[in-house]
Amino acid sequence: MQSPLRLGILGSGKGSNFRAIAEAIDAGKLNAEVRVVISDVETAGILEFARARGLRAEYLAPGRFKTKLEPEAEERLVKLLKEADVDLVVLAGYMRMVKAPLLEAFPRRIINIHPSLLPQFPGLEAWKQALLAGVNETGCTVHYVDSGMDTGEVIAQIAVPVHEGDTPETLHARIQVAEHALYPMVLRQFAAGEREC
Ligand code: GRF
Repeated sequence: MQSPLRLGILGSGKGSNFRAIAEAIDAGKLNAEVRVVISDVETAGILEFARARGLRAEYLAPGRFKTKLEPEAEERLVKLLKEADVDLVVLAGYMRMVKAPLLEAFPRRIINIHPSLLPQFPGLEAWKQALLAGVNETGCTVHYVDSGMDTGEVIAQIAVPVHEGDTPETLHARIQVAEHALYPMVLRQFAAGEREC
């Protein structure tokens, strides 16, 4: 049996994707170990959830920018992830662009989940973009992270139907159900050595 895949999780929100990953680990369905959970939001649910499970949970003060970390903060982030000796950096609702220090420290070892079938609807609130565009199908994507906004190579996707009468909330909830299946599935492929990191 391979040694567990060592994960560093970054998130800014409620952390339901992280929860799905943690539950897959607990259920013995994913051979991985969460080494550290880091958030740029001090009150984020993802940190609370990690602490409640006895995991290492760190708040990282982001500095003065809204869409990216201050360079010094990003250097601290790299240090935390290196100290935690992670194999793979998993963005789970992390709301900032990833910049050179992190990209260079973990080449092709940072992945993200996005609530659309990329390259359709990159950026914020992709489920609202899907509703506005009037498509009858959207979905979610796990992809490698590069310096662009949701532009990295696609790893896997699940399609989700848009129903008549969907609101942004109902559609996002349906996409999230698919996300919670997709992320653990992709991580299993990394853990089994079917994908390199
Ligand atoms: C998800 O919809 C994910 O696709 C997007 O941000 C949301 C995070 O949700 N990147 P959660 O914090 O994992 O519940």
